[in-house]
Amino acid sequence: MKEKTPRDSEIMMREMVMPGDTNAHGTVFGGKVLSWIDIAGAMCASLHSNTQVVTVHMDDIEFKSPINIGSHVIIKASLNYVGKTSMIVGVKVESTNPLTGIIRTTTKAYLTFVALDEFGKPTKVPRLIPETETEKRRYKNAQERLKSRRELSKKIQED
Ligand SMILES: CC(C)(COP(=O)(O)OP(=O)(O)OC[C@H]1O[C@@H](n2cnc3c(N)ncnc32)[C@H](O)[C@@H]1OP(=O)(O)O)[C@@H](O)C(=O)NCCC(=O)NCCS
Repeated sequence: MKEKTPRDSEIMMREMVMPGDTNAHGTVFGGKVLSWIDIAGAMCASLHSNTQVVTVHMDDIEFKSPINIGSHVIIKASLNYVGKTSMIVGVKVESTNPLTGIIRTTTKAYLTFVALDEFGKPTKVPRLIPETETEKRRYKNAQERLKSRRELSKKIQED
């Protein structure tokens, strides 16, 4: 199976915030942002594995600032780490005010997807080769988060 780099599966998706996307305050509904994040993440994981994928985990989602109606939204997804059949994708959401050009990072999230074969069973994914300093940092951070989560879940089960 041919190894791949994060660049091979990078995704950049653009949306415009419409009235149907908003909550009672006129800013984007959090569930809408999660849906964009899940779609961008799934496209990235599917491009890496060349399979259908399912979301098994969403981690460390942080809504840093609201997104106003009429804003342009850019959702960037890139592969941070892979296991045997699982893939961790980092997603960053930026909003741009088209009237001022001001760009803000509004949300960050880490999602885990599993590659499925034609029978719906987990299947092996290509190895990920991080090349740039940023890609290597993201790979290492993903490993650290995975380790902490496993330790925490073991500790909680023991309690
Ligand atoms: C994905 C699914 C088929 C995996 O089945 P499973 O019996 O858990 O398979 P495994 O135990 O062999 O795990 C497969 C991989 O997923 C990882 N995984 C499973 N659950 C996970 C979780 N909650 N968080 C992170 N990784 C997880 C395992 O660590 C393993 O990774 P690896 O192969 O890289 O080591 C099953 O969990 C499933 O169908 N989940 C529902 C998915 C779904 O409906 N998502 C919402 C809509 S897309």
